[in-house]
Amino acid sequence: MTMQIPLSAPDISGEEIDAVSRVLRTPHLSLGPELQAFEDALATYHRVDHAVAVSSGTAGLHLALLALDIGLGDEVIVPSFTFIAVANAVLQVGATPIFAEIDLVTLNLDPAAVKQAITPRTKAVLVVHTFGVPAQMDALMTLARRHRLVVIEDACEAIGARIGEDGQARLVGTFGDMAVFGFYPNKQMTTGEGGAVLTRDAARAARLRTLRNQGRRPGADWLDHAEVGYNYRLSELACALGKVQLKRLDAMLDLRRAAAERYSQLLKDLPELDLPPLELPRRTISWFVYVVRLPEGASRDSVQLALRNRGIATGRYFPPIHLQPGLRAALKGAQVALPVTESIARRTLALPFFNRIEASQQATVAQALGAALTKAE
Ligand SMILES: Cc1ncc(COP(=O)(O)O)c(C=O)c1O
Repeated sequence: MTMQIPLSAPDISGEEIDAVSRVLRTPHLSLGPELQAFEDALATYHRVDHAVAVSSGTAGLHLALLALDIGLGDEVIVPSFTFIAVANAVLQVGATPIFAEIDLVTLNLDPAAVKQAITPRTKAVLVVHTFGVPAQMDALMTLARRHRLVVIEDACEAIGARIGEDGQARLVGTFGDMAVFGFYPNKQMTTGEGGAVLTRDAARAARLRTLRNQGRRPGADWLDHAEVGYNYRLSELACALGKVQLKRLDAMLDLRRAAAERYSQLLKDLPELDLPPLELPRRTISWFVYVVRLPEGASRDSVQLALRNRGIATGRYFPPIHLQPGLRAALKGAQVALPVTESIARRTLALPFFNRIEASQQATVAQALGAALTKAE
């Protein structure tokens, strides 16, 4: 069923269409000038030396773990209140995901819980900036340095988010040893499918480029494979699209912030709802989704159904990873107790949210949600 008000929608202007069309008139559809230009633009935006574009955020996570030599026997601390790819990537390199609790305000890894989860086998912390809200990087980096842990930032949902006071704020993705971005069409900026990995280290950047291209070292002959690799390349079409989207990113983030503010205004009279914080100290949120929390005991399924019947799409972001059947099997019965994650995850409801959402559409959602809540009590 096509929804009248979708959960997300890409924002593609004539400029993106022209950029992609131009590529189609060239002989370079992969590994050409657009890749170089997109990577340079990403590195410049983040003020880091190297950005390596890949075919998805998941591919980026996989390659970051490989390039940081994380594998069999290693433990990687991750949140469970996030997208499944986070744990899958850890499993795919042969390491074990260890789930730690989140804090109630940012919904990101709680540094105290991360500390408790550290064992002699812990090699890394995979910090996710969930819903575009920066994680507590100061505390997490201090902890990681003390225990000599690698830090990978998963900034797939958070491009453009910042930590620090105005003027000195730093973008997420510039704190850890590597950072991963994702450009699926529901994200703040898109390449259709795509992702990127940031690093300050030239040797690691070269390794990432080798791994994404079937183990060919940069500049090597097409049939020379220095190591076992993958096809995680990003096409010239996608890179051309990404370059224009990145140029427009800050303006698009302003639109998203305005949409979040409008929702908070429209929903403020529904006291039973917990709304996401619009402001957090020393943080600039990059609005990925607008997620409310329903009252304890309300039936989310009925609320979703009521909205669906009015043509309004919603999402359950995120069912905890450790409860997903696939993951339970991979964890071979290991007991995981995450009461905060589970209670938050039961109540979360993502509302339609995209750059060009109209105030009237948001009013329709707010009205329908209010009516559905009254019924669901
Ligand atoms: C936190 C997080 N990590 C990883 C991914 C995976 O990205 P992709 O879908 O591009 O593989 C996503 C999103 O989709 C995500 O939200």
